[in-house]
Amino acid sequence: MTQMSSSNGETLVEAALRVLHTDDPFEKARLGDEVANKWLQGHIVRPYDDSVDIVVPDRPSRLSNVKLVSPSEMPKLGKAGSLQSRQSIVHSLVHTESWAIDLSWDIIARFGKQDSMPRDFFTDFVKVAQDEGRHFSLLAARLKELGSFYGALPAHDGLWDSATITSKDLPARLAIEHCVHEARGLDVLPTTISRFRKGGDDKTAELLEKVVYPEEITHCAAGVKWFQYLCLRSKNGDDAACGSLVSELSKFQQVLMYRVRVRRISNYL
Ligand SMILES: [Fe+2]
Ligand SMILES: [Fe+2]
Repeated sequence: MTQMSSSNGETLVEAALRVLHTDDPFEKARLGDEVANKWLQGHIVRPYDDSVDIVVPDRPSRLSNVKLVSPSEMPKLGKAGSLQSRQSIVHSLVHTESWAIDLSWDIIARFGKQDSMPRDFFTDFVKVAQDEGRHFSLLAARLKELGSFYGALPAHDGLWDSATITSKDLPARLAIEHCVHEARGLDVLPTTISRFRKGGDDKTAELLEKVVYPEEITHCAAGVKWFQYLCLRSKNGDDAACGSLVSELSKFQQVLMYRVRVRRISNYL
């Protein structure tokens, strides 16, 4: 593939920051797709500029039209047996995907340079970001077909919490967001799909089964891959790094024991 500099020489991290600073989620998805294509086609060449300081926002920009409530205040979603329940579930999925877009660009911008990650790390998470943007757009379009829209219902505001907690630590971010939250999403998705089928909504079921589910497996695999990479890199380093590896692994194991079955994770390796 021929690599060409973009006209303004923007780096991938600079482009990721533009996505994080975009408040409209539809524009976030569109811009993310454009940036991803530029990186994958070689029009953005450099992951980051060594001489430029990177300031990543604590919380990405969001529009205020979606009412955010604490998870405990969220109305029950139901089991997809009624149109209202199907709208609620798809609305909740759209909201989750909008955060997943930010999460993917955040890991690139926050950790790529800081942890001196190789080029493949950027490419893997660019692909994840592009998938999440596609999931958001497709599910938001489906929500419209179901007679609703993103912002019609409240959404829970706990989704960025674990990103904040892991904002200083790439292994913890990979373990918690990608090996726990995304793996847990995979665990519950088959039940959601069968509920939509039972409720007579094959179109949503197909979208979740044929597009979202297989792509989410690759996201989980990316988390595991780069977690393992960091562990190996640390293991080959000095004693202090090895000590930090042990502490990271033990943190990781505790989280896994608490939230998911280890056997399930190994299926996604
Ligand atoms: Fe997704
Ligand atoms: Fe994902």
